[in-house]
This record gives sequence, structure tokens and C-alpha cells, in this order.
Amino acid sequence: MIDSKKIKKDFPIFDSNPGLVYLDSTATSLKPHSVINKISEYYSKYSSNIFRGVYRISERATEEFEETREVVAKFIGAKSREEIVFTRNTTESINLVAYSLGRQVMREGDEILTTVMEHHSNFVPWQVLTSETGAIFKILDINDDGYLIGDLDRIITNKTKILALTYVSNVLSTINPVKEIIAKAKAINPEIITVVDAAQAVPHMEINVLDLDCDFLVFSSHKMLGPTGVGVLWGKYELLDRMFPFMYGGEMISEVYLDQTKFKKPPHKFEAGTPAIAEVIALKEAIKYLNRIGLQNIRAHEEDVVKYAIDRLGKAFGDKIRIIGPKDLNTRGGIIAFNFEDYHAHDVASILDEDNIAVRAGNHCAMPLHKKLGIAASLRASYYIYNGKEDVDILVSGLKKVQKLL
Ligand SMILES: Cc1ncc(COP(=O)(O)O)c(C=O)c1O
Repeated sequence: MIDSKKIKKDFPIFDSNPGLVYLDSTATSLKPHSVINKISEYYSKYSSNIFRGVYRISERATEEFEETREVVAKFIGAKSREEIVFTRNTTESINLVAYSLGRQVMREGDEILTTVMEHHSNFVPWQVLTSETGAIFKILDINDDGYLIGDLDRIITNKTKILALTYVSNVLSTINPVKEIIAKAKAINPEIITVVDAAQAVPHMEINVLDLDCDFLVFSSHKMLGPTGVGVLWGKYELLDRMFPFMYGGEMISEVYLDQTKFKKPPHKFEAGTPAIAEVIALKEAIKYLNRIGLQNIRAHEEDVVKYAIDRLGKAFGDKIRIIGPKDLNTRGGIIAFNFEDYHAHDVASILDEDNIAVRAGNHCAMPLHKKLGIAASLRASYYIYNGKEDVDILVSGLKKVQKLL
């Protein structure tokens, strides 16, 4: 079992902010010493550009950088490191696929299928793509419990070129049956390209891209204990190989003539310009940390804490609190979004902040979902490895104070 109090000791932010109750890992996670130290190691020991140096420190930086690619590939069960493209974040990874592959395959009258529970990053790029190409934007709905609904046999046709869906909702916390949905979609239309937004899944549970049988899977380093500025795009090599580059210049080029340019093979074809070298190098330390704890243990810990939290919040506030998303804990992650009485979410969050409790308030970049739920905003408390039941108790006390003040 995970001892969150012990884990907190690995995260220096708790030394600088004693008593911090950080419940916003869905937005970005905290960083352990090992990740921070690795960034400092790069700058103090082998700071240099990668791929182009013929001297030792540059070779060292290149090796460290490419080693992360290998570590990421193993972490998600990819066939090879050539399938791992480094971007800036999940948002850029999705935009890369939408701009490159999307514009290659979409024609007027074709369809893109996504869901109403998506983060804007997995909604807007597809919406824009349809408006530019004359394609049709289709959206899977949810039921009152926060599960996807809809008859795929009717919704997916041979015109549906792309299915883009989230693995775990960043508001509802719903863990979608992504493997089953992809299998069904491919049975109906074997040509369909599937894009999985795993920003809220990869940090919290075991993921294997071959087992999921998706075509693309995207996530962000900063939500999984790693540095900001690094995203991952995993794609099946055949698809990456036939896609146009997204940006041009720098090390993605193999030869330039006056009348044309030849590009490198994937993944380098998609990595134009100097990347976030230190951050990519340090991402592998985050993965090593997660592997040491074990993804199964992380998932079990979050389930345990969320069960306790839902129970405590329900007992303390009854129908004054509306928790959003599935009731079945097997199908929800470490996120609890809720509305509290008729208080404004931002007012509640500000009062909680007075007691050093960090929660998120707003629409969490999921406006279509909030509209569907009939609310403008919600509060969101999200739990990760450094949160324990003691943090739930502090949140409950904080909310009691809110009731007194508002
Ligand atoms: C499900 C989901 N997708 C995409 C994103 C966007 O991630 P990033 O800001 O790292 O691009 C987020 C961020 O919260 C998210 O929760």
C-alpha cells in the first residue's frame, strides 16, 4: 500500500509550503527531487544542444535524450522508440495529428467522432478541422451517471475517418472502456483512425498501446511528475511515416536543395527546432519514480482515497454537495468534481486557499460538458500519490468553514 505521508517527503514543495494540501494534480502534478535534480544535472554537467554536437557533452545529452524515448516506449508498451514523438504537451500532440493526418485524410462529407466529455484540446482541433474541410462533426453524448452512450453501429459509418476520445475525463473522472470502443469502431469501419487522449490516464494506470489497439495516444509529462514543456505523441509507425511534417526546420531535415527538401524519418520528422532538452531528459526520472511505486499500486491507492472522500463528503454535507460523474468506483479515477450548495465555485476555492487547500474552480477546459450538465462551473479536487485520507479530512473541514462564511 502507498504511504502518502512518506511519499510527500520526496516532493520538496511540501518543505517550502508546510501544510499544503495539493488537490490539483489533474491540472499539473508536483515534481519529486529526482526529476528536479535531473534537470539541474543536465544544465550543470552536459548542457549542450543535441544531435549536432561532435563533442562529448553533446553526445551525452543526445544519449540521455534518446534514452527517455526508449523509457517512454517501454512504459506504454510501444513497439519501438521510433513511434515516440516529443511535443510540448497533449494539446500540441493532438493538434499535430489534426493538422497533419487530419488534413491529409479528411474530405467534404467525411465524419469525425468525438465525445461531449472531452477537454477542449481534444475537441476544438477536430471541430476546426471539420469546419475547414467540410467534414461533419459528430459528438457522443453521456447519460446522467457520466457514461458514454450512443449506438455505435448507427453513429459510425464508412465515412467516419477519425474517432478521438478521452481515456479518463478530467471532470467526470469516468474511465471510458476505450479498448472495447476501439474494437467496436474498427469492426464497423476498419479504416477508422483512433486517437486516445490519455492525459489523465497514463499518470494513474497501466497503459499498453498494443493492447488498446489505438492508432495514436497522447499525454503530457507535467501531469505524471515530469517537467512542463514536454508532451508525447505515440503513433503507429506506418501512420507516422505517411504523415506530413507539422513544422519545418532544424533537425527534422535530411537534405535541402534549392527547389525541394527531404525530411528525416519519424520521430525526428516531427521534432523541428531545438526541443525542451532538459525536460525530456528529466521525464525518464518521473517514469522511473512511477515504476518504482507501481502503476497498479497507484490505481489502488487513488481508488481507496476517492472511496473515502466520496463517503466523507456525502456524510458531512448530504444533498448540499453534488458530486459529478459515475458512482461505481471501478469506473472512476482520482478526480472528484462537485458543486457545493449554490456557492460560486471561485468563492469556495478562494476560502479553501486561505487554509492552504489547492482545488480548481471553473469549467476545467470542458465547456461542452459543463453545458450538458447544466452548470457554468464546478469545483475539482484531484488525488494522486502524495495525497492521503488526511487530505480528505482537511478538505471536509475547509468546506465546513466555507458554509459558515458564505
Ligand atoms: C483530458 C485532458 N486532455 C488534454 C489536456 C491538455 O493537456 P496540456 O495542457 O498538457 O496540453 C488536459 C489537461 O488538463 C486534460 O485533462
